[in-house]
Amino acid sequence: MTQPDDSAAAPRRSILITSALPYANGPIHLGHMVEYIQTDIWARFQKMRGHDCWYVCADDAHGTPIMLRARAEGITPEALIARMAQEHQADFADFRIGFDNYHSTHSDENRHFATLIYTRNRERGHIIQRTIAQAYDPVEEMFLPDRFIIGNCPKCGAPDQYGDNCEVCGASYSPAELGNPRSALSGAVPEQRESEHFFFRLSDFEEMLRTWTRAGTLQLQVANKLDEWFTAGLQEWDISRDAPYFGFPIPEQPGKFFYVWLDAPIGYMASFRNLCDSPGGRAAGLDFDDFWASDSQAELYHFIGKDIIYFHALFWPAMLHGAGFRTPTAVFAHGFLTVDGQKMSKSRGTFIKARTYLEQLNPEYLRYYFAAKLGPGVDDIDLNLEDFQARVNADLVGKVVNLASRTAGFIHKRFAGRLAATLPDPDLFAACAAAGAGIADAYERREYSRAVREIMAVADRANQYIDAQAPWVLAKQPERAADLQAVCTQGLNLFRLLIGWLRPILPGTAAQAETFLGSGPLTWAALAQPLLDHAIAPFQPLMTRIEPARISALLAAARVDLQASADAAGTADGSHGGAAGGRHLASDPLAATIDFETFARVDLRIARISAAEHVTGADKLLRLTLDLGGETRTVFAGIRQAYEPAQLVGRLTVMVANLAARRMRFGVSEGMVLAAGPGGQDIFLLAPDSGAEPGMKVR
Ligand code: 2FM
Ligand code: ZN
Repeated sequence: MTQPDDSAAAPRRSILITSALPYANGPIHLGHMVEYIQTDIWARFQKMRGHDCWYVCADDAHGTPIMLRARAEGITPEALIARMAQEHQADFADFRIGFDNYHSTHSDENRHFATLIYTRNRERGHIIQRTIAQAYDPVEEMFLPDRFIIGNCPKCGAPDQYGDNCEVCGASYSPAELGNPRSALSGAVPEQRESEHFFFRLSDFEEMLRTWTRAGTLQLQVANKLDEWFTAGLQEWDISRDAPYFGFPIPEQPGKFFYVWLDAPIGYMASFRNLCDSPGGRAAGLDFDDFWASDSQAELYHFIGKDIIYFHALFWPAMLHGAGFRTPTAVFAHGFLTVDGQKMSKSRGTFIKARTYLEQLNPEYLRYYFAAKLGPGVDDIDLNLEDFQARVNADLVGKVVNLASRTAGFIHKRFAGRLAATLPDPDLFAACAAAGAGIADAYERREYSRAVREIMAVADRANQYIDAQAPWVLAKQPERAADLQAVCTQGLNLFRLLIGWLRPILPGTAAQAETFLGSGPLTWAALAQPLLDHAIAPFQPLMTRIEPARISALLAAARVDLQASADAAGTADGSHGGAAGGRHLASDPLAATIDFETFARVDLRIARISAAEHVTGADKLLRLTLDLGGETRTVFAGIRQAYEPAQLVGRLTVMVANLAARRMRFGVSEGMVLAAGPGGQDIFLLAPDSGAEPGMKVR
């Protein structure tokens, strides 16, 4: 496990860091970005501390969905993954994810290591062969993964459900249990056919895995989850798939391929091997075995989402161990991203692609916001767009950048860009600089929200200093020129501490600040020494405020993406992966009763009507702005005949808060207000104004 390292003179560590490999069949979205930002911050922090640190990743390029998507687009899988590789890398680069190498699982290096790891495990008896029966599509002439079989849910009867779980009632089951099963590809009724498969005997590694999981390699919640899996018993893992399949052939087994999840984590090794063999890797003297041999002293960390723990905390260390390689030092799992408190949802327009974000907003805003929310655990984090805007504007623009903009101009105009030779308040500088140890400890432990809090506490102190010294007043007193230079020098040195500590989070802004300060890279060790009697460059604004219009534009663009992908679903996407085309939730909601669980999922909330207005061209509708206690929704309600807008403003009502947003002719309606009455003028909408608060749940 990592050692908190609060001295810049700590021994130099060799560290290899990975993020999970994104599938090469879809775009990067903001949910993905939580992980890449989290990992990138950690890698940049380690580098800033002077460690020998490498951060690698790759596209996860194999599997049935990729094969089928390429087929639907009329291109080869190789052409598809080449295009995706470019798109993914452009997104990552623009979010300033500083990979030292980005490779592909469809590579020579990966074929080599996948074959080696398989062969060694097989030679040691950890891989066995067995015949199993599986669903087969007689039209497409291929075995069907569970997700490609649809039918009626065995529990609730909902039609058109996938073969693994029901989106209506949430039940999990096996495809054999589906009623009226059909292939999502051809519509044919699947047959059961036998085929020989290869299985990895995970239980051979139980003892080793029990020791490994308790050796500080896993977060507590994850280790507890593993205990449950141990108790349930470790099952054999099917690592083979039949042709047609886009993947690596299993040696000496015609028509058999490695399952995508066998070679995916091996992609970490492959990417690192590729780095070792690159000019940069050779120049750095990187040696593959130093990082991967069983006696390696280097540290190896995998950042992953909590949904893929089983693969990384059981299969992966077991496969590595079985093949004589080292096991990971630690696996760090994180939670999922919600947007405005909800799962990212295409219908709400909150399914935001990385590129869509980048077209509207500075990546450093999101890096900061995620950092401010991220802890070391597996809790989900919420991108609350209003809070996002407020926090970035208040902290980064209002406190950090403002410190420089309030002081740099004077140094430039009045002192030819030269900082004073001494600090007027060295004790304040020392006291602020001393916070660096705690901030480093927070980064090391992945407690980024704590790091941000501690940095902002120093920012508050620095701003109080400037407020008290009021350089703009000094500037009007020619006899106090020396004081003005001193105060601004103090302010800029405090700014330098802040931006230095924020550098792992804000690499682009920090790079601009480095140019402006003209004192070389802001390493952790360099920060403790103030910059004195030193020429700085003219100040350029480092960051501007987020304007609300940009957030609206982002959401509008996300809705356009949704429309584009819905349109495409009828064509190219029609037969790929989870988005299997031609699949409808065709039940008539009015014809059926709902069970209590379904009813209990209706989120009823008290809302205050903060605005109400007529809707031009709609004689039954009012446009209501509803305040849910920090969150605002627009809802169109058919109550115009019953109420004048002015009667409604300020009153409370009950709304369905988790109704999917609906596009109406007049705009998007984000929920529904509840009303009772015969209609027309007699509709009663308002809850009594007695002690209820906006946002309260109604039971
Ligand atoms: O879940 C996913 O998106 C996988 N592509 C992650 C693979 S991580 C590693 F094992 F390669
Ligand atoms: Zn169901």
